[in-house]
Amino acid sequence: MNFEKYANYYDLFYKKKDYKGEIKRIHKLVNFKKKDKVLEIGCGTGKHTFELIKYVDEIDAIDKSKKMLSQAKKIRKKIRNKKKINFYNKEAIKLGSKKYDKILLIFHVFSYFIDNNYIVKTFKKFHKILNSGGLVIFDYWNSDYTKKFKLKDSSREIFLNENKIKRSGKIEIRKKNIFKIEYSFKIGRNKKTTNFFKETHIMRSFKKKDIMVLSKNLFSIKKLIKLDNLKKLSSKDFSACMVLKKID
Ligand SMILES: C[S@@+](CC[C@H](N)C(=O)[O-])C[C@H]1O[C@@H](n2cnc3c(N)ncnc32)[C@H](O)[C@@H]1O
Repeated sequence: MNFEKYANYYDLFYKKKDYKGEIKRIHKLVNFKKKDKVLEIGCGTGKHTFELIKYVDEIDAIDKSKKMLSQAKKIRKKIRNKKKINFYNKEAIKLGSKKYDKILLIFHVFSYFIDNNYIVKTFKKFHKILNSGGLVIFDYWNSDYTKKFKLKDSSREIFLNENKIKRSGKIEIRKKNIFKIEYSFKIGRNKKTTNFFKETHIMRSFKKKDIMVLSKNLFSIKKLIKLDNLKKLSSKDFSACMVLKKID
């Protein structure tokens, strides 16, 4: 399962990610109210969740990775905010019947949904559990970008005490909008490798039209922007952010 060993290092790789700014901008987009019932899907280590709880009284946050959630629960113990964050180990498609006003999937969680059937079933579920006028806010890989620009292999190093952790990502195009990223993690100390593991992430990019078709009759597109500045999306933007509104 992905994000198992990776969970130990995940927050270090994204130490500089602007979680606070992203939630602030999402608030500008959708205007959270204290009493909103909010569901976050693919919450990972909870970095968005802990920002989001500043705007609402209670959040349910789910992730299919137990290890990512256990990192999130460790951080929850340390925070002072006494408002309620409920973490659950759950797959998006297996949601129950509890109702929400807003559903969020942030940092390309939606791009892990590669299968059309899965997406249609998930959108149907979202539609069922959203209150009237409910919103889905999510970001994903933008096909207009991936068609135009070749995605590059990546390599990053981080340091944890005496250890150096190197993450190398090799990208392969499976189909025109499906990508295989083979991550290799090498952990070393004093030039000696002490641990090594691999993860394969299969990701999908989407066009606006794809999402229109997959959410047909259930949702209408309210916004399509880039999350780093809330400006109009262009083919030069790798990451797209969409707000869908439930059709009642
Ligand atoms: C790139 S991480 C993002 C984590 C977190 N949102 C953040 O911004 O740091 C993607 C997360 O989505 C979770 N995920 C992927 N597919 C999922 C699904 N179908 N149901 C629930 N969680 C899922 C993964 O386990 C992982 O924790």
